[in-house]
Amino acid sequence: MSVTDAAQLVAPNVAAVTLESDQLLVDWGIAAHRFHYVWLRDNCGCSQCRHPIAGERLSDPASIPLTIRATSAQIINRGILIVWPDGHSSEFSAGWLHQHAYDSASRATSRRNLHVWSAAFMEQHRPEFSFDDILASDAILLEWLQQLNRVGFTMVKGLGSTPGTVAQLAQRVSFLRDSNFGLVWEVRSEPKPDSLAYTSVKLTAHTDLVSREAQPGVQFLHCMVNEAQGGESILVDGFAVADELKRMHPNHWETLTRVPATYRYQNDHTDVGATSPVIRLDHRGEYFEVRYSNALLAPLDCDPSEVLPFYAAYQAFSNLIRDPRFEYAFRLDAGDCEVFDNRRVLHGRNEFDPNSGRRHLQGCYIDSDDFMSRINVLQRVGDFRIR
Ligand code: OGA
Ligand code: ZN
Ligand code: ZN
Repeated sequence: MSVTDAAQLVAPNVAAVTLESDQLLVDWGIAAHRFHYVWLRDNCGCSQCRHPIAGERLSDPASIPLTIRATSAQIINRGILIVWPDGHSSEFSAGWLHQHAYDSASRATSRRNLHVWSAAFMEQHRPEFSFDDILASDAILLEWLQQLNRVGFTMVKGLGSTPGTVAQLAQRVSFLRDSNFGLVWEVRSEPKPDSLAYTSVKLTAHTDLVSREAQPGVQFLHCMVNEAQGGESILVDGFAVADELKRMHPNHWETLTRVPATYRYQNDHTDVGATSPVIRLDHRGEYFEVRYSNALLAPLDCDPSEVLPFYAAYQAFSNLIRDPRFEYAFRLDAGDCEVFDNRRVLHGRNEFDPNSGRRHLQGCYIDSDDFMSRINVLQRVGDFRIR
């Protein structure tokens, strides 16, 4: 049994174990956790239950009797040893047990550690990183990704003006996410645009690719030249706005978490749609994502009784998104790259005058799971397997 995982470093010692009727009570001295026997048996990490090299599960949860009970449980070096009636022995490190405790207090403390922000916070405390530092140091890479995960936005400076540099930054994190717009796309005013982004009009704050089943997790927008009048950038923390909506109008908040909007994108070669609530919660009732784009909103498809409540709620949310308390406005300079959580932080820009000077950005995406994977791998200490 490895005891070198990160959780082990902060876990207390096991003080006592008690066999209860359908659960094992693990007493840490200061607190205690209960684990169902079926749950413990299912997580046996022995070489018959998990492949010792591939690490994936060989055991079949369907074969465990729901009434299974441990034959014995004893404290061993920084963990516990359980013997089962089927002859298996399972060793669990204290760190692993502590990390995976699933009582409501433990689950509450393992919540994603978010810093939701207003415009005033961002004016004072904008997180900034240097492109060269991120390329040169894994420690700075990790610090940058952790900030991005917590705050939902960071500015990266010093990319210069060479096309393709944005992909270099994104690929320092993970694989690029492809779409009909390509792996890396050009944001400039074009004669035959297939998106409002490729005109010079104002883009109200939005999330990208709302009409896709999965919105890309992290968006990179690298400014190569910005000499036009106008075109100031806007960022809004969608979770902060959702919190404010919940405080002011709980009924509107509830409507937006439940009644889905439909989004649709069409060009000569593409026709994609997605139906999802504007504010989506996860299985714990916490924010999963915001999905919001006026440009791609399609006809609502919901019960007739929901139409007026939906529009009232959408209007209230939209008005808060435009509230100067939440709208952080700034100007991108050549060499700057705004990097943000596209499922949380909405982005936009003011109208610009394409005849007054050039404005040219390049953008790309990576998916959230690849982003989290990079953080998880960089944070690893010792044995990284689940068991
Ligand atoms: C986009 C976009 C913002 C900008 O391309 O998706 O929102 O500043 N661009 O041009
Ligand atoms: Zn086993
Ligand atoms: Zn956009």
